[in-house]
Amino acid sequence: MKFFIDTANLSDIAEAQAFGVLDGVTTNPSLMAKEGITGADNITAHYKKICDLVDGDVSAEVISTDFDGMVKEGEALAALNPQIVVKLPLIADGIKACKYFSDKGIKTNVTLVFSAGQALLAAKAGATYVSPFIGRLDDISTDGLNLIAEIRQIYDNYGFETQILAASVRHTMHVIDCAKLGSDVMTGPLSSIKGLLKHPLTDIGLAKFLEDYKKGNQ
Ligand code: G3P
Repeated sequence: MKFFIDTANLSDIAEAQAFGVLDGVTTNPSLMAKEGITGADNITAHYKKICDLVDGDVSAEVISTDFDGMVKEGEALAALNPQIVVKLPLIADGIKACKYFSDKGIKTNVTLVFSAGQALLAAKAGATYVSPFIGRLDDISTDGLNLIAEIRQIYDNYGFETQILAASVRHTMHVIDCAKLGSDVMTGPLSSIKGLLKHPLTDIGLAKFLEDYKKGNQ
């Protein structure tokens, strides 16, 4: 299972990269705005910084909602660095643009996916990644994890190579449940990755080992 970090915060990205388990980064316009990154030139420069920090795929989202605009923006983003994955919204023109980019061998991430039917369309259009938003489904009392299971079944039935990128992951149990369900990738905040470390018995056990070592070596 690949671990992506879902942020535009350079210090969180650097920390996750240094931790040694990071496979990539996802961003979106809200995450860029949260870091105060505005304006096309600053956003472009920020994507370059992110690519310099990590080894893996970096999803960069278009803001156009028409096919021509998405193609223009996506081509410019893809030209920045081979690590860039063009992130497209799951709307009709987004699916058309996904097909356009996949035919050209440019990686895509189809985002804002909330149903199995949408995920099927993204796979048919050759998406590299599909991003079901599990946290936002949970927010409206719908089972986000069930969507991961449904997409896994559909993709396996037909051998679709599109990777399921569980997005809107909020906490460690989302990560673990997505892993159990066979999600190819998860993207979440740094806390959802670092939280996997935690177990009181690890801390108690380590403290005891060190105490016993000290006693034996006095
Ligand atoms: O990857 C999608 C993500 O950025 C949305 O997460 O927490 O805003 O629902 P959230």
